[in-house]
Amino acid sequence: MNETPISSHAAPLHVLIKSWGCQMNVYDSGRMGDVLAEMGYRATEEADQADLVILNTCHIREKASEKLFSELGRLHETQQQRAARGQRMVLAVAGCVAQAQGAEILARAPYVNMVFGPQTYHRLPAMLARVEAGERSVLDNDFPPESKFDSLPHEGAPPGPAAFLSIQEGCDRFCTFCVVPYTRGAESSRPALAVLDEARRLIARGASEITLLGQHVNAWRGAAPDGGCWGLGRLLRAMAELPGLQRLRYTSPHPLAVDDELIKAHGDLGVLMPFLHLPVQSGSDSILKAMNRNHAAADYLRIVERLRAARSDLVLSSDFIVGFPGESEADFQATLDLVREVGYGQAYSFKYSSRPGTPAADMPGQLPEQVKEERLARLQELLWAQQKDFNLRCMGQMMPVLFDRPGRQAGQVLGRSPWMQSVHVEGTNDLIGQIRPVRITQAGLVSIGGDLESHDMKAEALC
Ligand code: SAH
Ligand code: SF4
Ligand code: F3S
Repeated sequence: MNETPISSHAAPLHVLIKSWGCQMNVYDSGRMGDVLAEMGYRATEEADQADLVILNTCHIREKASEKLFSELGRLHETQQQRAARGQRMVLAVAGCVAQAQGAEILARAPYVNMVFGPQTYHRLPAMLARVEAGERSVLDNDFPPESKFDSLPHEGAPPGPAAFLSIQEGCDRFCTFCVVPYTRGAESSRPALAVLDEARRLIARGASEITLLGQHVNAWRGAAPDGGCWGLGRLLRAMAELPGLQRLRYTSPHPLAVDDELIKAHGDLGVLMPFLHLPVQSGSDSILKAMNRNHAAADYLRIVERLRAARSDLVLSSDFIVGFPGESEADFQATLDLVREVGYGQAYSFKYSSRPGTPAADMPGQLPEQVKEERLARLQELLWAQQKDFNLRCMGQMMPVLFDRPGRQAGQVLGRSPWMQSVHVEGTNDLIGQIRPVRITQAGLVSIGGDLESHDMKAEALC
């Protein structure tokens, strides 16, 4: 291997960070970028230009993990081409696959220089120093006693109009299909003041919308500024008072931890958007039990009803798993019934993927791929019909749109509705960062489109 030093270059060093998985990984990748920016690294999109490549991985389903090894194979070639030019590429694997399979990664891909999990990336400078000092590979999969948040830089790259803010890490729920409690560790919450400070900095750097993140976000119990302890509903209230914050969201909550204070926040806080991702996974009580979700379908429906009573324009999204071990046709029908009863604006649905080390992987009644595929197709047909229907109901409505990215076609700009729909309009990129009223004139399955209205909106229209 070429041993060109990775610091003390005259030319600036470049880093490429690729992120898979959930929003928490997107947030973590941003924070890794901040740590590296302090060390003088600049971001690049080109692997060929990168002195350091970090793959921030997801372990949630088998497919997600397998992507890593095909990507590593390609990067190894680039690493060798750079070495032939006398340039080094340090290759790092981060995130949830790194946490779950650190040693295996180093065995299968010995050209990887660093492997570290989601809770140790604040130690990046020390890990890079060890690689530079000649260590063949560095593995840091601790769940350290110190919180990464205490050591991350306060300043960073501009967050864009819609920013993520992690407030809670880990999960203690141990759903029987899920790797998260093993890859992210035990639940922990950041103190309220730390969250509010970071939110203020995001707003000062241009964020209009903040989404509070946690794998089990409504398990957040943070030290309050007055020395007490707050729950998520109280934190949302404090967030809503931050000057300059126009939109607030949170994800992903577990239905069982939706408490009165949180429901009330949906009714009271105009800044809290009328859209909630509330995963249910299945509509069958026996499958919910086998999943260790700890609630019945009727409990979920009651929570949805209470949330809608608090905020009548609330639109829901969910995650579903089909083909969980032992799922009968009747169980699957119960999921379809629940979907019909709730009516979703959008949703994510997955075939059950057996994950090594999780209890469901050893359960009897593992279903053939074909059954899972057929059920997924039927569920998606229903979910997509609901999504299209919701989008069609928005036709003719005027709604505020936060523009956050250029469109794929020239002259088009993209934004988000309050209900998380992707909205396209004809316009220029100077719209990005603004919230502007849009009259909806087109509705498809995955997006809606419309015309910018010149006058101010007094209130948000309901779809
Ligand atoms: N904390 C969130 C979910 C995080 S994982 C919650 O409790 O809802 C995101 C989604 O991936 C899950 O909601 C679930 O639908 C899906 N998922 C997790 N493990 C899976 C597995 N083994 N097979 C298929 N889908 C899975
Ligand atoms: Fe996984 Fe969510 Fe269950 Fe936690 S609550 S174990 S993150 S599915
Ligand atoms: Fe994937 Fe880890 Fe998120 S497994 S879904 S990146 S918490």
